[in-house]
Parts: sequence; C-alpha cells; structure tokens
Amino acid sequence: MTNKMPALLKKNGARGITLDSAPRPSCGRSEVLIRIQKTGICGTDLHIYAWDEWAQSRVHPPFIVGHEFVGVIEAVGEGVDGFAPGEQVSGEGHIGCGHCYFCRTGQGHICRKVEIIGVDRDGCFAQFMSLPQSNVWKVRPGIPPEVAAIFDPLGNAMHTVMAQPVAGKTLAIVGAGAIGLMACKIARAAGALRVLVVEPQAQKRAMAVEFGAEDAYDPAQTGWFEEFAKKTSDGVGADVVLEISGSLAGIRNAFEMVRPGGEVALLGIPSNPVTLNLSEAIIFKGVTVRGINGRLMYESWYQCERFLMEHKLDLSPLITHQMPYQRYEEAFDLLQRGQAVKIILDWE
Ligand SMILES: NC(=O)c1ccc[n+]([C@@H]2O[C@H](COP(=O)([O-])OP(=O)(O)OC[C@H]3O[C@@H](n4cnc5c(N)ncnc54)[C@H](O)[C@@H]3O)[C@@H](O)[C@H]2O)c1
Ligand SMILES: [Zn+2]
Ligand SMILES: [Zn+2]
Repeated sequence: MTNKMPALLKKNGARGITLDSAPRPSCGRSEVLIRIQKTGICGTDLHIYAWDEWAQSRVHPPFIVGHEFVGVIEAVGEGVDGFAPGEQVSGEGHIGCGHCYFCRTGQGHICRKVEIIGVDRDGCFAQFMSLPQSNVWKVRPGIPPEVAAIFDPLGNAMHTVMAQPVAGKTLAIVGAGAIGLMACKIARAAGALRVLVVEPQAQKRAMAVEFGAEDAYDPAQTGWFEEFAKKTSDGVGADVVLEISGSLAGIRNAFEMVRPGGEVALLGIPSNPVTLNLSEAIIFKGVTVRGINGRLMYESWYQCERFLMEHKLDLSPLITHQMPYQRYEEAFDLLQRGQAVKIILDWE
C-alpha cells in the first residue's frame, strides 16, 4: 500500500488551496485513523482559501485544510478502547489540551491551548486523517452520511440556540447562512414560539421560511425593522437574538432587535473590531450578552444526535451541492459567490 494520499493543502501564504499528494498520517497511541468519506466546506475554509487578514494572522502553511467530515475507521492505535475498524464516525475538531482548568471543568471548548483540525493541524480534506479517540464521534445508524459530515456546524447552531432558554420565546436570527438556517430549525424544534430572520440574500430568506421562520427580512429594504418589531410582543423587540452573520451591520442590528432585558448570543465572527454604543445597546437596555465558541463537548453533540434521531431536523435542503473532491475549485467559487449554502465534497 502506498503511503501517499490525495489532500487539499494550504501550501503557502497566498490565495487558493492545492490538490496534491501528502503523506498518509500515522495512527499513534490513543489515535484513530479515519478513511474520509465526505467533508463539508465552511466559512473558515473560505477565509483560508482567500488568505484574508484573519487567515494570515492565524494559520501556518503548509497544512491540510478542512474540519467537517464523516468517515470510516481504518485502524486504531495502541490504547484505543471502544472503537473498531469499519465503524462510521465524525469528530470534534477542537482538540483541547485535556489538563487545563477549562478542560477539567467541562469547558474544553474554551481551552486556551486548543488545536483545531484544518486550522492549527492537519484537517480532513484528504483521504485519511488521524484524530485522538477522545474526539471521535460514532454516527448512529439512520443519520445520513452527508448530515453526519456537518455535525460540526450543526453543533455550533445547537450551542447557540441552547445557550439560553428559547421555549415560548420570540427569537430573532441575524444571518441565514448554513448555521443560521440550522439554528432556525433547532429553535422551532426546541419550542421557540416564533422565529424572525434577517438576511440579505433572497434565496436564503426563502429557505429560512421553509426552515420554520415566520418571516425573513431584507436589511436593505426600508421599513424592515418596523415590520419586524410589529411581530414581537407589544412591539418591544425579540426576547432572544442570535447573531450568526458576523457582519458589522448584523451585529449592530442584533442589539436594536433585542427587547429591553433580552438576551443576545454572538456566534458570528466579525473580520474587524466592532464599535458599539454600549450604553444604548446593552447597559440601559439591561441586555445579557453571550459569546458562543464552538460546541460544548460533548453536550452539543448529544443534543444534535437526539434532535436528528427524533426526526425533528431535516437538513437535506441545506446541502445544495455534492461533488467529488477533485471539483473543489468549483465548490469554493460557488460558495464565494453566495450561490450555494452547504457543499459536500465526496472522497470515495
Ligand atoms: N464562534 C464560533 O465558534 C463559530 C463557529 C463557526 C462559524 N462561526 C461564524 O458564524 C458565522 C456564520 O457562519 P456560516 O457558516 O453560517 O456562514 P455563512 O457565510 O454561510 O452565513 C452568514 C450569513 O450572513 C448573511 N449576512 C451578511 N450580512 C448580513 C446582515 N447585515 N444581516 C443579516 N445577515 C447578513 C450572509 O448573507 C450569509 O447568509 C460566520 O461569521 C462564521 O465565521 C463562528
Ligand atoms: Zn466549520
Ligand atoms: Zn485545556
């Protein structure tokens, strides 16, 4: 057997990624070697592809890109218990240090020494990837492989929705990209009374309604805010706002949309520092703000599994394209032009 494999690499500090051969990873102690079946492309990969300011300050080429995947266990290393070749798995891409205060108090998602696959170490856009057994997640039968491949962003959506009570609440979601749309469906399944969405792209607004939003507004349309406010109790604003766009305008709108005493969860990552009028946006309104990083390990994973197993989340409309990995350039181009929501690359 050859010890080379195809992989999508960020080779150097310039725009683009390259399909090349890379050494097949070894399967060290407590590690699981995974033969990749399908991978999802996400916004982080687009930043790495574009080699923007964030990518330049964060990643160190060369490395294999990608963190959303499903695959089959090829081999297990020494000391691995509870996993066997042939099992279908996904995995948590944030590898905590395992022994700091955060890791030891159930907050591994904010470990300061976290290593992220496809960012800080080799990722899943390849035929094989090895992962510590602690991060490997068995896929339950009945969960479609293309959905298992996007447990990572689904877990982001789950974490954002579940970070505060939503049952019986009027919820607003800013940004109906892949994660915002997932959040829409999760929020309805979790009992949100009403979900109102703001999203500039018409196709995604239509999808948000399909995913359970009562209305979806175009922030470029005059009067959208008044229309939105009318849908909230006494016109005072949403009980909970989930910011999932990462845009400056979206973040500012989130604080306009929340009612006094309401809650804002921030998942979207702005490319630049944001200025806000804190006294008006948060202090005088008595707003509670939460930063959301990654997924709770592994509460968010169990929640995703349960919601999927109970058939409460049909995510198939979200996966607008599936194509072989060799067509990655086309996939990145479609995503950059906003003509796709979630694209799955096939590695088999
Ligand atoms: N905190 C974390 O751990 C974490 C993890 C994953 C993703 N993220 C971030 O979450 C955000 C969403 O991720 P995604 O994969 O769904 O990205 P995405 O690009 O698919 O979605 C973003 C959406 O926001 C919309 N948008 C742009 N400007 C807007 C505005 N002014 N108002 C409302 N919507 C607007 C875009 O049209 C797009 O549909 C990104 O910023 C991403 O970097 C954060
Ligand atoms: Zn991602
Ligand atoms: Zn740690």
